[in-house]
Amino acid sequence: MLILGIETSCDECSMALVRNGKTIESLVISSQAEVHAEYSGVVPEIASRLHVETIQSVCNETFNKASISFQDIDGIGVTNQPGLSGSLIVGLMYAKGLALGLNKPFVTVDHILAHLYAVQLEYDVAYPYIGLLVSGGHSIICIVKDYDQVEVLGASIDDAVGEAFDKVAKHLNLGYPGGKVIDQLARKGNPKTYQFPKANLYKSNRKYDISFSGLKNAVINQRQQFWNGIDEQTPENICASFEKTAIDTMLNKVLLACEDLKISRVVAGGGVAANSYLRKRLSELTQLETYYPSLELCTDNGAMIGGLAYHYLIRGDRSGFDAKVNPRVQGFRRI
Ligand code: KG4
Ligand code: ZN
Repeated sequence: MLILGIETSCDECSMALVRNGKTIESLVISSQAEVHAEYSGVVPEIASRLHVETIQSVCNETFNKASISFQDIDGIGVTNQPGLSGSLIVGLMYAKGLALGLNKPFVTVDHILAHLYAVQLEYDVAYPYIGLLVSGGHSIICIVKDYDQVEVLGASIDDAVGEAFDKVAKHLNLGYPGGKVIDQLARKGNPKTYQFPKANLYKSNRKYDISFSGLKNAVINQRQQFWNGIDEQTPENICASFEKTAIDTMLNKVLLACEDLKISRVVAGGGVAANSYLRKRLSELTQLETYYPSLELCTDNGAMIGGLAYHYLIRGDRSGFDAKVNPRVQGFRRI
């Protein structure tokens, strides 16, 4: 079964042709980062307008790369939640048009579930696993029981981790996109230069929750208080100390969840899973089975959408032409 996956939830316009939920025949990702760099963040209005301009050429390129014709697909999967409304609408309407024109079924896909599925495109990971979903909009620790069964254990109560990376980079004028820039600078820095605070939330039954706004504020406004007084206060050292604190905060909760629930498989997904320090730490946890997608499949891409859509389509799920977008989602249920 060959599925076209369409992803336009934020500032990446991406499509992929994926066979049987597993094999990527082609993947095209058109990033708008250069345009948004001028504003040090994604401008929603500009993002939707650019999707309108690029979506047709992304689609043509996806089919051309695989030498597959439009009629050869069996169905379409498209992200409809969560994300920027205008951006989501462009992808969803494109999917509806294509489905109507080709007389093929289409199904809407939750972006968060797709990030947690991405790893299955490269590995055969048995369920259940502890999922660490870290992106620009979400930081979630969950039990993934199946491709569509996710139980959230904890989440950030304020900023998402990727958002914290982006805001720190913006306020310190380090460049854009923030996560990638901080990752690069941190490689040349000393993480011991600052002892930034690690929020340790332990609210009754919500002990896996995390928080990043205090850390973000400490890095931007109160650095001096946390300096070791020895190492130079360079951007590299700030980035290394911030990155270590942010990633360790999440990994501590992941380890706690593994211990409590007696689950030894961990899967990371989402843009921040591209972070070098996170990947290194995960690969060092030799007492656990840890997985993270290749860099291209961590950030937003159409392959994870096409991969997950296969499972819905094969069991008979179909979306109607009244399908809508949801910028925010409570929990993980696919609507
Ligand atoms: O999953 P994604 O592409 O989009 C959302 O669904 O939000 O994630 C984007 C986020 C951004 O906050 C970006 O700064 C962060 O992922 N990111 C990184 C790295 N690459 C991207 N954060 C840390 N280190 C990286 N190497
Ligand atoms: Zn994403």
